[in-house]
Formats: sequence, C-alpha cells, structure tokens
Amino acid sequence: MTNTGPGPVAGIKLRIAICGGGIGGLCLAVSLSRYAHLDINVYESAGQFREIGAGVMIWARTWHILEKMGLASEFSKIAHAPPTGAQGVGFDYRRSDQPCEGFRFKLVEMPYGVCFSIHNRHAVLTSDSLCQCIRFHRAEFLDVFVNHLPPGIAHFGKRLTSYSRNSNGLISLIFNDSSSAICDVLIGADGIKSTIRAQMYREAADTAHDQSLMRYIEPVWTGTMAYRGLVRVQDIPRNKDGSPHRTIGVPMMYCGKGRHVVSYSISQGDIVNIVTFVSQPEKHGQHYDGEWVTNCDKQELLDCYANWEPEVGSLLKCIDKPTRWAIHHVNPLPFYHKDGVVLMGDAAHAMSPHQGAGAGQAIEDGFVLGHLLANITSKMQLFRSLDAYEAIRLPTANSVVNGSYESGMMYDLISKYGDDYATLGPAIQRQWKWINEISLETELEFASRLARSPSPNAKL
Ligand SMILES: Cc1cc2nc3c(=O)[nH]c(=O)nc-3n(C[C@H](O)[C@H](O)[C@H](O)COP(=O)(O)OP(=O)(O)OC[C@H]3O[C@@H](n4cnc5c(N)ncnc54)[C@H](O)[C@@H]3O)c2cc1C
Ligand SMILES: *[C@@H]1O[C@H](CO)[C@@H](O)[C@H](O)[C@H]1NC(C)=O
Ligand SMILES: *[C@@H]1O[C@H](CO)[C@@H](O)[C@H](O)[C@H]1NC(C)=O
Ligand SMILES: *[C@@H]1O[C@H](CO)[C@@H](O)[C@H](O)[C@H]1NC(C)=O
Repeated sequence: MTNTGPGPVAGIKLRIAICGGGIGGLCLAVSLSRYAHLDINVYESAGQFREIGAGVMIWARTWHILEKMGLASEFSKIAHAPPTGAQGVGFDYRRSDQPCEGFRFKLVEMPYGVCFSIHNRHAVLTSDSLCQCIRFHRAEFLDVFVNHLPPGIAHFGKRLTSYSRNSNGLISLIFNDSSSAICDVLIGADGIKSTIRAQMYREAADTAHDQSLMRYIEPVWTGTMAYRGLVRVQDIPRNKDGSPHRTIGVPMMYCGKGRHVVSYSISQGDIVNIVTFVSQPEKHGQHYDGEWVTNCDKQELLDCYANWEPEVGSLLKCIDKPTRWAIHHVNPLPFYHKDGVVLMGDAAHAMSPHQGAGAGQAIEDGFVLGHLLANITSKMQLFRSLDAYEAIRLPTANSVVNGSYESGMMYDLISKYGDDYATLGPAIQRQWKWINEISLETELEFASRLARSPSPNAKL
C-alpha cells in the first residue's frame, strides 16, 4: 500500500488497458484519450470494431453525457427522433394478443423539457434536458466513438485469455495470439461473457474459500427468447384507410400473455427496429443449451404472434431474416474491481433489454470512470478512485438489472400486476422513474469527493 515502484508516481504515464471495444469500452477510451498524461490502449478480439445491425435507444441522462463529451452534434445527425424534436412519447402500450384490434392501456409520456434533477435534496426542473427516448442504428452509434479515437490506440485480433499481477505491481495481459502487454489498470469491457469477470470471481472464490462467488461468472438465462429485425419504412403496408402504420410515428409496446413486441423507428425515420419477446419465466436460471444468437425462420417468428391484432402481423411480415436471441443477464455483482482490475458495461451488469438501458449504463460507467481516472496521480489515489467508481455505479446498475427483468414481466402481463391495467399502468410509469431521478452531476460530485477522501478500505 505504498506509492513506490514503477507506475504513475515514477513519472511514467499511467497505462490503462481497455479490454473490449464495444460501446462501453470505446466511450471510456474516447473520454480518456483527451488526457496526455494517460497511455490508453484498447484490445479488441474481433478484426475491427463492429456492432450488429439493429437499433439501440438511449434516454436523456445518457444524452446528457454525450453532450458533456462534446459529441452531441455528431450524435444528433444520426439520431431519431432528433433530440431537438418535440415528440414526447416514451412508449405506447397496447393489449394485442387477440385477433381483433387491440387497445391502449398505458401511454408513457416523457415530455420534452420536463426533467427533474436533485440538488440539495430538492427536485429542480432542468429545462435544457429532455426525457424522450432517442433512437439510433447501432453501427452508426458506435462509429461516432470510433471516429473520435486517436490513431494507434486500438489493437485488433487481441482476445484476452488471462491476466496476472507481477511482483512490481504491474498487470500482464495474455492474448490468444501468444502476444502480451502490460498495464497499471485493466478495464474489463469485454461484454456479457467477460473473461475478466470470470477470472476475477474465480480467484476471489478461491482466496475467500467462498464458492458462492462462482455464481457471478456465468450469465444466467432469463427464460426469454427475442427475435430481432430491421425493416424499411417504405416496405411497411399502410393501414386500410391509407394512414401510415402506427409505429412509424410512435415507439410501440404490443403486449400479450407471456410475450410482447417492441418497435420504433431509427435512422432518421427510414427504418423501423423490431424486437419481439417470448418468455417462459419458469425457466429463469436454467442453462440455455445451444448458440445464444442464431438466424431463424421467418415462419417461427410469425407463429409466435399468429392470433395477435392485425397491425402486429403486418409489421412482423416485413422482417426478412430475423435473428433469435436467448436473453441472458448477470447476477447483480457484489464488487466491480479488485487489485487494479475493473469491470464496466455488460461485463459488470449485463441486463435484459426491457428498459433499453444496457448501453446507457455502459456509457455512464465510461463517463464516471473516465472522470475519476483522469485525475489520478498516485497509486493510492487509483484504488480510492476505483472504490468511488464502484460506490457510485454498482448500486444503480444493479437496480437497473433487476428493474429491466421486472419490466419484462410487466410487458408480458405476468408480473404480480397481471393484466390489471389500473395497477399495471402506474407500475410501468414507476419503473421508468430512475431515468430522471438520479442526476449525473450529483453522482460525479459525490464520486470526486469519495475519491479525494482518505479511504480505509483501499483494496491493496
Ligand atoms: C435484444 C437486445 C436489445 C438491446 N437494446 C438496447 C437498447 O435499446 N438500449 C440500450 O441501452 N441497450 C440495449 N441493449 C444492451 C446493449 O446492447 C449492451 O448493454 C451494450 O451493447 C453493452 O456494451 P459493452 O461495450 O459493455 O459490451 P459489448 O458490446 O458486448 O462489447 C464487448 C466487446 O468486447 C470484445 N471482447 C469480448 N471478449 C473479449 C476478450 N476476451 N478479449 C478482447 N475483447 C473481447 C467483443 O468482441 C466486443 O467488441 C440491448 C441488448 C439486447 C440483447
Ligand atoms: C483467438 O480467438 C479468435 C476469436 O476471437 C479465434 O478466431 C482464433 O482462432 C483464436 N486464435 C487462436 C490462436 O487460438
Ligand atoms: C428485484 O428486487 C426485488 C426487491 O428487492 C426482489 O423481490 C426481486 O426478487 C428482484 N428481482 C430479481 C430478478 O432479482
Ligand atoms: C478532477 O480534478 C479537478 C481539478 O482538481 C477537479 O475540479 C475535479 O472535480 C476532479 N474530478 C473528479 C471526478 O475527481
């Protein structure tokens, strides 16, 4: 627990290795690459940075971060609805699992300009923020981060297989092409099947003789399967009266017993992103056999919603080549860092997608961690900062993991509220509350204070 040895205090740049170049890792890399006193490297197992062809939505709190990073104008160009738009609907919830036309049972409105943040325990209206969902094409979204990475930082074809701590306090990384690297801080941004999380928890279980820690290694199947597809707006048939399909204007949540369909437009309104879910909650926690992501038959998808209201069928018929996903999440972790190795994004808190929050939570990690790491000048400070990161991010992210799962149950009409719309509607409204409840400024200020205060439990 001293400041001696090589590393930042010796005048060498603090070496930060980010393992995984998804949305989380790249957000952090872009944040940190602005600081000349840091040496940043991103190790990505794939041959290039890539995202799947699908949509991703974020909420105002994430948008706020992108603004603070100076990236708002670029993200605006690829956003739908653009953040300056007046549209205020979060989601339109309908009962749809019957052949005749369904009905709205809840409209979640998050009107433009009405956002609250907490300052000194008082809710303050912050008119410059917005609370609607902002939608993107994933590949376009990732590209904005990629375009802001300085040259020389990214290394491809580098699949981390393990890491180890040297006697001089450095961390050695071993990749599957037999190459290696060293760093002072290792960031595990390597996604839901994180190699780094697995090693961290396996070692912790051994050291503490506590086998219960092994339950944090393997992701857990939620019992839900999802089907995904993108369709061009021009290919979606109009309604009988000639009006455009409802989902082109409004993000839709079509709900039925044990299944639901989510659809919203992206790419400046040219494309509709569709994700459908089929749940068997009794299988939550069971091992899922087989590939998590596969191509699948269009008919298999259509059969799942065969007797649903017509506007669901007309939308799903447009999906050419659906993919099928076994939805997994990670049991809420008890810690995010150990000996200079830190988890972020899906590696730390992979969640089911029912609150459209996984990418946003990864970006929040990147933002908070970026601020904290940028200020480090000693090893002691490093461990305090990692404690501060964990203190700020872990409780929030874990509660979103839980909330996302519970939301899925609500949309499938199998939560404790069933289809009692009088209680389900308000419960749905409440589950979105966290989005505006916790202010990032407050969190960041708290994190800085924690990082500066002497920490009795610095972890080394
Ligand atoms: C159906 C579905 C819909 C979703 N919709 C939304 C949404 O609307 N909004 C939202 O916010 N979130 C959504 N999410 C969640 C979101 O996609 C994820 O939370 C987010 O992409 C996680 O980013 P990440 O960078 O942490 O991980 P990833 O994107 O998984 O990136 C991890 C990276 O690490 C690399 N890697 C893995 N292992 C290694 C290794 N050993 N060595 C080196 N590199 C490695 C991988 O190649 C990858 O590039 C959805 C998820 C699903 C499944
Ligand atoms: C390393 O991992 C990649 C997958 O990321 C795999 O395609 C490749 O075959 C592996 N290389 C070796 C030498 O094992
Ligand atoms: C979420 O939290 C509630 C309240 O603490 C708990 O009852 C529930 O089991 C949790 N759900 C999951 C999926 O962890
Ligand atoms: C970083 O240091 C600056 C200058 O001391 C300070 O203003 C800022 O609050 C610090 N940020 C964090 C996150 O600690």
